[in-house]
Amino acid sequence: MKRPLAYIAGTGRGLPAGVMTNHDFAALGIETTHDWIVERSGIHERRIARDGESTCSMAVEAARKAMDRASVTPGEVDAIILSTASPDRLLPSTAVDVQAALGATRAAAFDLSAACSGWLYGLTVAEGLLTAGSAETVVVIGSEKMSAILDWTDRSTCVLFGDGAGAAVVKRAKQHRGILSSFLRSDGTLADLLHRPHGGARTPLSEQVLRDRTHFVKMAGREVFKYAVRSMAEAADRALDGARLTGQDIDLLIPHQANVRIIEATAKHANIPIEKVFINVDRYGNTSSATIPIALDEAIESGRVHEGSTVLFVTFGAGFTWASMVVRF
Ligand SMILES: CC(C)(COP(=O)(O)OP(=O)(O)OC[C@H]1O[C@@H](n2cnc3c(N)ncnc32)[C@H](O)[C@@H]1OP(=O)(O)O)[C@@H](O)C(=O)NCCC(=O)NCCS
Repeated sequence: MKRPLAYIAGTGRGLPAGVMTNHDFAALGIETTHDWIVERSGIHERRIARDGESTCSMAVEAARKAMDRASVTPGEVDAIILSTASPDRLLPSTAVDVQAALGATRAAAFDLSAACSGWLYGLTVAEGLLTAGSAETVVVIGSEKMSAILDWTDRSTCVLFGDGAGAAVVKRAKQHRGILSSFLRSDGTLADLLHRPHGGARTPLSEQVLRDRTHFVKMAGREVFKYAVRSMAEAADRALDGARLTGQDIDLLIPHQANVRIIEATAKHANIPIEKVFINVDRYGNTSSATIPIALDEAIESGRVHEGSTVLFVTFGAGFTWASMVVRF
């Protein structure tokens, strides 16, 4: 079958109001500085969920906006795919809580676990459901309450992440708009470089686990950085090749927002000038699978993505997983 088979009919985002700046770490007794964080990552501030805000509540806010923009009612949604590395509870999925809150009574709902790459994985799964005729309307959400799974005594991780959600309504393609190519990859031999070692079924939560803080995110930052640069370069090439395009044909690159240095390296490799790259990591930090849908929603709202725009998405995350996609709007 010839692409495009699916297109993005509407987007939305849900961000907590609470802003935490780099200067706020001092009050937590974390030995870091604004200058160190900005120089190494490009992050100035991030949003932190408070007062009952959850992975579900942020996802619902993002999904409602996306459905409004796509003129889709809850009863029309056939599937809800929620990408998250920070589910509200481990059983059942957070997606079913979202389904209940939306009143999407006909929808199949499930969580998707591919860390930061999860939203692009979700879009590709949605495209498959639409193409197989299993669905007409799919809501794909990335929602993360990273603040709940970070070790707030570990300065090498806690300064890098933030909370938030983004969503898109995906429908069967009309005319020439939609997903032109997609690329997904994983390498589980590298899983231990970025993970939560304990607290799952293999080593359930115990006093020892809590004492050792091994239920929180652990990351070998320097190694992750190396693989991220290499994998995002490969992913950019593969999506462009798949769409038979070059970097010069791209109107906007929306990369995963983990680190401005990784973003710059990806843009340079793909031969895309920095003016054509969407960057908001300075304001939100790394919101894992929510970074790309939040950025896309902001890019549409500000007019940087409009009808006719060709957009390249590229991402990388724990697993490792990496992915990319070219979409014509
Ligand atoms: C984490 C990261 C910002 C660190 O930058 P870096 O230049 O690689 O820094 P290093 O890891 O070499 O650490 C340099 C020093 O800073 C220190 N440091 C770590 N965190 C710090 C902080 N928040 N404030 C101040 N110093 C810090 C380290 O202890 C180390 O000190 P040492 O040299 O005395 O041991 C960078 O490796 C990175 O972005 N990695 C990828 C992370 C990522 O994208 N993850 C998500 C993937 S989806």
